[in-house]
Amino acid sequence: MELRGTAVIVTGASRGLGAALAEGLGRAGARLVLVSRDREALDAVVERVRTQGGEAHAVVADVGAPESAARVAGTAGALVGPAEVVIHNAGTLGPIPLAPLADTSDEDFEQALATNLLGPFRLTRALVGSMAMRGRGTVVLVSSDAATTPYPGWGAYGVSKAALEHLGRIWNAELASTGVRFLTVDPGEMDTRMHREAVPEADPSTLPSPEQAAARVLQLLREAP
Ligand SMILES: NC(=O)c1ccc[n+]([C@@H]2O[C@H](COP(=O)([O-])OP(=O)(O)OC[C@H]3O[C@@H](n4cnc5c(N)ncnc54)[C@H](OP(=O)(O)O)[C@@H]3O)[C@@H](O)[C@H]2O)c1
Repeated sequence: MELRGTAVIVTGASRGLGAALAEGLGRAGARLVLVSRDREALDAVVERVRTQGGEAHAVVADVGAPESAARVAGTAGALVGPAEVVIHNAGTLGPIPLAPLADTSDEDFEQALATNLLGPFRLTRALVGSMAMRGRGTVVLVSSDAATTPYPGWGAYGVSKAALEHLGRIWNAELASTGVRFLTVDPGEMDTRMHREAVPEADPSTLPSPEQAAARVLQLLREAP
């Protein structure tokens, strides 16, 4: 896929992997709509992309809120044209510190599902009709090895990521003939706020940077048809 001129939505772009993806995509010439809740942090990423010659726009939204999908899709369309790629990167751990399922509250479990699963479902649903009409589109689901390995304490997060991966498989089966593709990516461990909150005892100097993971995701997109 040629990234130059491509309209891309990146959720969770205010820091970590999402911010690194935004900077990499911006340098590659993509036309970006960046989504997160923290306006100040998001505006700083937009500024960094523009300083490097890229195009980016901020849309402040909670991806877990039911009303966000239509607003993000509509605003993105008005800013950069119909989205050709959406990267569902926004993520939350659920309870912090991580807790066994027996100690996980309804609210923490629901928040993990809302952000990591329902948000991507709703935003995808708002975008795929237009992608299918145009005969092409790429939906990237950022997952984790916690989707397949039952790490104790990672229940809400792991369940949400397992369901996200299966969501992608079903979308893929349903839209196989339309030219819309679903790619699931596990970025691996990275030195980000999420990792610091999940594993505070980890030595950050031993972890790959989000920029390294972002470079792999960009390569995957470039290699996609
Ligand atoms: N770090 C790792 O080792 C690791 C490993 C495997 C997979 N992952 C996955 O990689 C992705 C990025 O993680 P990260 O490590 O970069 O995490 P991070 O540093 O905590 O960043 C998370 C991003 O998601 C946004 N976000 C969270 N809840 C949101 C919501 N309700 N609505 C909109 N935006 C929201 C945050 O922005 P605001 O706070 O501004 O909303 C932030 O931009 C996640 O999907 C994560 O599960 C991470």
